[in-house]
Amino acid sequence: MPSPDARTAADLAGIALAFGARDVAGWSDAEERLARTASRPDPAVVRRLRAELLDGGDPLGERFCALRSAELRRPLGATYTPAPIVRAMLAWARRQRPLPSRIVDPGAGSGRYLLAAAATFPDAELVGVEIDPLAAMLARGDLAAIGAGARTTVHLADFRACTLPRTTGPTLFVGNPPYVRHHRLDERWKRWLVDRASSLGCRASQLAGLHVHFFVATAIHARPGDRGAYVTAAEWLDVNYGRLVRDLLMGVLGATGIHVLEPAAQPFADAATTAAITCFEVGRRPPSLRVRRVETLDDLGALDGGRSIRRDRLEAAPRWSPLLATRRGPDGPRSGGRPPVGYVELGDLCRVHRGAVTGANAIWIVDGATDVPESFLHPTVTKARELFAAGAELLDASSLRRVIDLPIDLDTLDDDDRARVERFLRRAATMGAKAGYIARTRRAWWSVGLRAPAPILATYMARRPPAFVRNRAQARHINIAHGLYPRLPLSATALDRLADYLATRTSVADGRTYAGGLTKFEPREMERLLVPDPDLLVASDAPRA
Ligand SMILES: C[S@@+](CC[C@H](N)C(=O)[O-])C[C@H]1O[C@@H](n2cnc3c(N)ncnc32)[C@H](O)[C@@H]1O
Repeated sequence: MPSPDARTAADLAGIALAFGARDVAGWSDAEERLARTASRPDPAVVRRLRAELLDGGDPLGERFCALRSAELRRPLGATYTPAPIVRAMLAWARRQRPLPSRIVDPGAGSGRYLLAAAATFPDAELVGVEIDPLAAMLARGDLAAIGAGARTTVHLADFRACTLPRTTGPTLFVGNPPYVRHHRLDERWKRWLVDRASSLGCRASQLAGLHVHFFVATAIHARPGDRGAYVTAAEWLDVNYGRLVRDLLMGVLGATGIHVLEPAAQPFADAATTAAITCFEVGRRPPSLRVRRVETLDDLGALDGGRSIRRDRLEAAPRWSPLLATRRGPDGPRSGGRPPVGYVELGDLCRVHRGAVTGANAIWIVDGATDVPESFLHPTVTKARELFAAGAELLDASSLRRVIDLPIDLDTLDDDDRARVERFLRRAATMGAKAGYIARTRRAWWSVGLRAPAPILATYMARRPPAFVRNRAQARHINIAHGLYPRLPLSATALDRLADYLATRTSVADGRTYAGGLTKFEPREMERLLVPDPDLLVASDAPRA
């Protein structure tokens, strides 16, 4: 319900004017027109609201949200940010060096971020960009009332189109870009998005919402050394149109941390949504990012916790949520947080790769004699049960079936091998080997492309925990297994203990369980298992079963 002291936009405009809104740089014609309709406020109300403001509240913003229903605010994405989120983002900003000389809030609303920034950075210039004249007027009034009017400019403008003058020191971009779905956006702006994204070397989707436009506009306005922290709905982490945000964060915007807020934290009063706070430093490419999930606003702190995740894992992942999801540690499920001392994610030690898909096992897997030359026949794990049966180590490959893996360039074969291979390929073609989707999409239909032998092989789909097996037999694997390939040199002892640790500590609860109890570990999910780091693996007191 609108507060009895401000029942109309004219009442609110009157209070903002009494706070000194007109004295803040950037006063616009639209605000002047609004000012002409403003009511004359009761001085006692002005005093009371000013006191609330000086006490850290946002009385005008609250009245604005009460006056305009969520429905009315939706077209401009005007969902104001709760104080704990604003505080956490500015606490993060205060710890960055050098300090910003200018703060920009794109979509400033009633000025919540700028008010907090005024106190946090007493010497910085404050810039709000806001498209709604009433909100712009409120932000001006608020900043004037706290005594920061002289260093503030509010532009009544579209953030995508406005000009931000060059400044000497770094700029901090901070705020809550408006969330407006694509079907409310003009064709003209959709074209703008595609053009501007392409000028940044990225591709845009027509389905992108306004918050995505704001990331692009930020990338255009910002200079190397500028920083930023934006809170948004979290869906861009996973959806196709969010690819553009992910690319910008991995590229020019230089993400340094992502903090995901569970819907239970009620990040926004108007919507039960997961939110993501993204911190970035323009022009940086840190080798790893801090990521964290928090369940309550109190846990936000100064956005300084989280575990580190390598950027190449984010770059390779088609969706980011799985990498940020709750994980299991050595002591059971844990959310967010750093791994315990001495533990890392398996993905930090090894890449996990599913084995090659043959496209036609009946043709490419041989179980017995064949005329194909021996050098193209590779003993291969072709059934998960072979790994379950092996126990801790696969010592002997002689009982495995063999996969025919021919080179892409058959001209490298000598005449005899070539003749035998061609005989086989003629027979394979008559069995339909050329026609399948897999064969048609690989570089040469006859070349399966097995991966190199992995030192550890794992099953990934069963009604029991996966098997992790040391592959001493140098066996290859097809797509019924994953191979673990070290990213860094790991001694034989470290590999033995890693396989042993994974085999004994991984449970079905770590994977994704499907109806019927089948548990599956996609490679990226397996990479998220927590394991001892290399030092702990080889220490004499390494964790064992
Ligand atoms: C999510 S609200 C955030 C307000 C304020 N920064 C806060 O966090 O409390 C987004 C704001 O962006 C404004 N806005 C929407 N479209 C805009 C645009 N194209 N350019 C500038 N501001 C815009 C809305 O009017 C709204 O005030």
